Amino acid sequence: MLVVELIAKKQRGEALSAEEIAFLIQGYTHGDVPDYQMSALLMAIFFQGLEESEGRTFLKAMIDSGRRINLDSISGIKVDKHSTGGVGDKTSLIIAPAVAAAGVPVPMISGRALGHTGGTLDKLESIPGFRVRLSEDEFIAVLKETGCAFGAQTSELVPADRKLYALRDVTSTVSIPPLIAASILSKKIAEGTNALVMDVKVGSGGFLRSEQEARALAATLVRWSAAENVRTVVFGTDMEQPLGKAAGNAPEIMESLEILRAGNGDKRLVDLSCALGGAMLHLGGKTGTLQEGISLFKQTLQSGAGFEKLKQIAAAQGSSSDVIEHYDRHWKPKQQRDILAERSGFLTKVSARETGFALVDLGAGRRTAADPVDHSAGIIFFVQAGAQIKPGDKLATVYWSNGLHVQDALDRLANVFQISDAPVPPVPLFAFYGDAHGIQDASNLSTLFTT
Ligand code: URA
Repeated sequence: MLVVELIAKKQRGEALSAEEIAFLIQGYTHGDVPDYQMSALLMAIFFQGLEESEGRTFLKAMIDSGRRINLDSISGIKVDKHSTGGVGDKTSLIIAPAVAAAGVPVPMISGRALGHTGGTLDKLESIPGFRVRLSEDEFIAVLKETGCAFGAQTSELVPADRKLYALRDVTSTVSIPPLIAASILSKKIAEGTNALVMDVKVGSGGFLRSEQEARALAATLVRWSAAENVRTVVFGTDMEQPLGKAAGNAPEIMESLEILRAGNGDKRLVDLSCALGGAMLHLGGKTGTLQEGISLFKQTLQSGAGFEKLKQIAAAQGSSSDVIEHYDRHWKPKQQRDILAERSGFLTKVSARETGFALVDLGAGRRTAADPVDHSAGIIFFVQAGAQIKPGDKLATVYWSNGLHVQDALDRLANVFQISDAPVPPVPLFAFYGDAHGIQDASNLSTLFTT
C-alpha cells in the first residue's frame, strides 16, 4: 500500500478499509509512516470526516498498537472519568480521591495540556515529588494500595495515540470528533476500566465547535464503549468560561485542595464535581440511582475523606502527605499583576478560550511540545460572568515566574473580559446528559444539580 494513495483517497472523501487503517496506524506507530504524511492524512480527515465503521476501526487499531492493562486482581467495578479538555477544569483532582475514598477503585490515565486546554498530568506535576510516569506494575500497586492511581500513558499503552495526540496538537487537527472518541476510548479501554464517566465540553474553550457536535461525540462515546464492554455516561457541560476560580497548574491544585479540605467552594466547580463523582459511584455499584450517587459523593467530599485519600495517593506516588497538607508553602510565583476593570457595567463573558491561550503565553502550557512548563503560572479570577462591576474592581490576578511571553499574555487578557451595559443570563452549567438510553437535555435532570 502507498500512503500517498491513501491520503488521496481520503481527500476525495472515500472511506478507508480496515486493512488500510491498520496499515496506517501500525506504520505510524513504528515510524514507517512519517509525521508529514500523517499530518496530511489528518488534515484530509479534518475536512472529509470518518464514517462510523472507519472510526471504530481507528479505535481498534489504536488499542492494538500497545498492551492492555489487566486489572482483574483488583476487586470491584473500576471506574474512570475523563474530560474532552477545558480551561480551569480541575475536577479529576477533586473527584478521583473522593470516589476512591467512597470505595470505588479509580484507575486514571490522564493527558497533558493540549492546545489551549490544561492537562491533569501537568497539574499533578506541580505537586513536589509527585510521579505520574508509573510503570504498569507501579500503577497497579498504587491502585491496590490506595484505591486510586494517576498515571501517564506509558510507551506500551496506546503508543499510536501518544504520537497522534502530539501531532494533532501542533497541526490544528484536534477537533475531529471520531478521532477524539478513538483517542479517549483507546486509553480508557487499554487501562482496563470497567466503566467511564465523560465530561464533554461545549463552547469555545473546548475543542468542539457546536453543541450539536458535542452531542454527536457523546453518543459515539456511549456506543463505541458499550461495544467494548465499558459502560459510559456522559455529561455535556459549559466551557465558554473557565471552570472555578483558578486556571493554571499550581493555582488549580490550590483550589482543588481547598474544596477537598472544606467540601465547598466555587458553585459551578462543586456542582460539576458532584455530578461526575456521583455518576462514578453509581456506575461503581455503590448506589442504586444517580441521585443517590450524587448525595453519597457530597457526603464523602464534605467529610474530608477525599483530602485524606489524596495524601495517601501522593505518598504512594513519590510525594508526601505533608506536601499536600502544606501545599500553599510550595506555590511561590515570582511575579504577579492585578487586572482591574476599566469601566462599569455587567460582565457578560469571561472567555475560556482567550484565558487558555493567555495561560500558554504565560508558560502554564506549551507553545511547542518541547517547551518547559512554568508550574507556578496561572490566573485567579475574582468575578464570574453575570457580575456587576465598577471601574477599579479587581477582575483577576495573574501569576508567573519565568514567563517568556508575559506581554502577549497580558495583551490577550484584555480580550478575556467583556463588559456591557445590560446583563445577560448566565450560560447553564449542564447542557445535556447521555447514557445507553440516549442523549437528553440536562433540564430533565435539573433537580440533581441544585446544591
Ligand atoms: N482528550 C484526549 O484524550 N484526546 C483527544 O483527542 C482530545 C481530548
